[in-house]
Amino acid sequence: MLGLGIILFFCFNAAHSQFPRPCTTDAAFRTKSCCPLWKDKSPCGSLSGRGRCRDWAGTKRSQIPQVDDDRLDWPRFYYDNTCECYGNYSGFDCGDCRPGHFGDKCDRKKMIIRREIRELTFLEKKRLFSYLALAKTTKCKDFVVLSTGDRHHRETYRYVDASLYDVFAWMHYYAMKPILLNNTFDPIKNFAHQGPAFPGWHRLAILFLERQIQLMTGDEDFAIPYYDWRGEKNCSICTDDLLGTNNAQGILNPYSHFSFWRAICSGFNYPDAYCPTADTEYKMERLHRKPGTTPYALNMPTFLDVENVLKLKDLDTPPFNESSLRSFRNALEGFLAPDGVTLKRSMHNLIHIYLGGTMSQIPISSNDPIFILHHSFVDKIFEQWIARYNASPGSYPENNELGQMPNDCIIPFFPCHRNKDIIRKSTEFGYRFSTYNDKGW
Ligand SMILES: *[C@@H]1O[C@H](CO)[C@@H](O)[C@H](O)[C@H]1NC(C)=O
Ligand SMILES: *[C@@H]1O[C@H](CO)[C@@H](O)[C@H](O)[C@H]1NC(C)=O
Ligand SMILES: *[C@@H]1O[C@H](CO)[C@@H](O)[C@H](O)[C@H]1NC(C)=O
Ligand SMILES: *[C@@H]1O[C@H](CO)[C@@H](O)[C@H](O)[C@H]1NC(C)=O
Repeated sequence: MLGLGIILFFCFNAAHSQFPRPCTTDAAFRTKSCCPLWKDKSPCGSLSGRGRCRDWAGTKRSQIPQVDDDRLDWPRFYYDNTCECYGNYSGFDCGDCRPGHFGDKCDRKKMIIRREIRELTFLEKKRLFSYLALAKTTKCKDFVVLSTGDRHHRETYRYVDASLYDVFAWMHYYAMKPILLNNTFDPIKNFAHQGPAFPGWHRLAILFLERQIQLMTGDEDFAIPYYDWRGEKNCSICTDDLLGTNNAQGILNPYSHFSFWRAICSGFNYPDAYCPTADTEYKMERLHRKPGTTPYALNMPTFLDVENVLKLKDLDTPPFNESSLRSFRNALEGFLAPDGVTLKRSMHNLIHIYLGGTMSQIPISSNDPIFILHHSFVDKIFEQWIARYNASPGSYPENNELGQMPNDCIIPFFPCHRNKDIIRKSTEFGYRFSTYNDKGW
């Protein structure tokens, strides 16, 4: 066990996401402005040419009939003014760099390599687990999370502190909440799944966590590993030196790395709440996992499954939901079988269900760090697809799914990242994947 509890590091100079602490003051909400002062004391670092505070009010779309959900038309329910960063600058205050760029002026490009977790050396594993422990126990300086027991009433919204890892876990939970339209919840729609935004949303979220850990530790070489689950007969990384074994109740072995972790936002997955346990009332449940015990998910996807999914050349197809056929996204996400025509659980979804416990409760699944290894591999498959079809932002389909249209800003990130703009080679975001195993890639 790592004795990191007491030392409070902060995530300095943070980048992409919400809610930036300086934008949760009364004044920020009153003026609907999220243009924090950068080091040079100007909003969005404008005096240093990093960006500008932009008023987006005039660009509001009009096709949304009656907007009730705070996330629609992101982030304009909260802010009319947000930073627009120039060139290689990024971050909610333009104080950070675009992915893959480093240095005070963000002019230094760097490529990191994401490796299979079993490829890591002893020292690299130690580094991974201590950074994750730090991320789980370090109060995030730049971001807070939103909590309420009643989404209908804005005056009940509260912004509370969370650790860096919990901010990440919360982002997934927040993006997945059912959409509230005209006072009615639509349980089958959300902003990160069941539509064309799925692979890009998760790519951006992993990039966020990776970058925040780099900033927190000062280690620019840190890369999130992946778990290549193709053809696995059991969860071979569920050992105590890696992700941890579990007992019959699913509780992780006390001698494994994540046994002390608790799940933020657990137990309150009703639609009208946003994470009411995010404050210090530690009623949160421990992580649990039960790999291979769910009767309808006894096997993980095979090499052939992945090859077949990669044969689907359209990123997504109408009706852009769980019913889409011949859709790479729907097969990768796993509502569609790798054959492209049978609607059944497979691929990404199958892994969540196979692992059981926290991972099988999708809204809070991001609490289990095996989530990031899983999604890093899903991203590797996405990267294979991008390379095979030479995909680009133009490959992102026109559609009318709320929050998943090509030009929608991805929820809940700052500054705006458009859904279509994530369809680029990973090297443009500063990372690539190792070749693992003798099966080609
Ligand atoms: C942005 O980064 C690239 C490297 O990717 C560098 O060549 C370029 O000069 C940078 N642009 C600015 C404006 O600093
Ligand atoms: C919203 O709901 C109300 C009452 O349920 C209904 O009368 C109204 O037509 C709905 N508006 C829209 C735009 O769907
Ligand atoms: C996976 O299966 C192998 C071979 O059957 C076995 O040796 C290993 O202990 C199992 N690992 C886990 C984590 O169950
Ligand atoms: C997908 O969308 C179509 C057309 O709107 C609808 O008929 C179908 O029920 C939807 N499927 C799911 C699983 O939501």
